[in-house]
Amino acid sequence: MILDIRIDNLELINKFEDIYKMILDSFDNNPYAGYLVYIDDRMVVGYLYYSDIYDRIEINQLIIHDFYKRQGYASELMKHLIAKNKNISLEVKCDNIPAIKLYEKHGFKKVAIREGYYDGIDGHLMILEMK
Ligand SMILES: CC(C)(COP(=O)(O)OP(=O)(O)OC[C@H]1O[C@@H](n2cnc3c(N)ncnc32)[C@H](O)[C@@H]1OP(=O)(O)O)[C@@H](O)C(=O)NCCC(=O)NCCS
Repeated sequence: MILDIRIDNLELINKFEDIYKMILDSFDNNPYAGYLVYIDDRMVVGYLYYSDIYDRIEINQLIIHDFYKRQGYASELMKHLIAKNKNISLEVKCDNIPAIKLYEKHGFKKVAIREGYYDGIDGHLMILEMK
């Protein structure tokens, strides 16, 4: 089950204390924040932190816990985000092959290099444009 958490339905996640606190902090600092949280068998499998900025979305963070990797969970989160039907952008470390492959699988293109973006390591700006 994917929960789409915004400031007005935060209570849906309050029994998962760690992620609840993290989300609360984000909402304090980012008025555009949203979280897609994947819950399976009453466990938090992973989450996607995004900013929904009017007509576009930025992915800030995407994490699947180790035990659940390679089982399609990140893809499910991506599909949920893409269904919002807005252009989506993100930055990813250029040596993060799993993430780059994931984004390419969902139609994202590399459009620019951010030199030294991650403590000296380059980043790729990737974009998915809606038709
Ligand atoms: C990147 C990450 C989110 C992928 O999550 P996941 O749930 O394991 O991914 P999925 O099972 O949904 O895989 C979807 C696609 O991603 C790609 N992929 C995922 N893991 C991969 C790996 N280890 N090597 C190569 N490709 C990989 C594949 O294209 C895969 O499709 P396929 O199964 O048809 O080959 C996960 O590895 C993670 O949390 N990494 C650490 C945090 C991170 O780097 N986040 C992204 C920062 S921008």
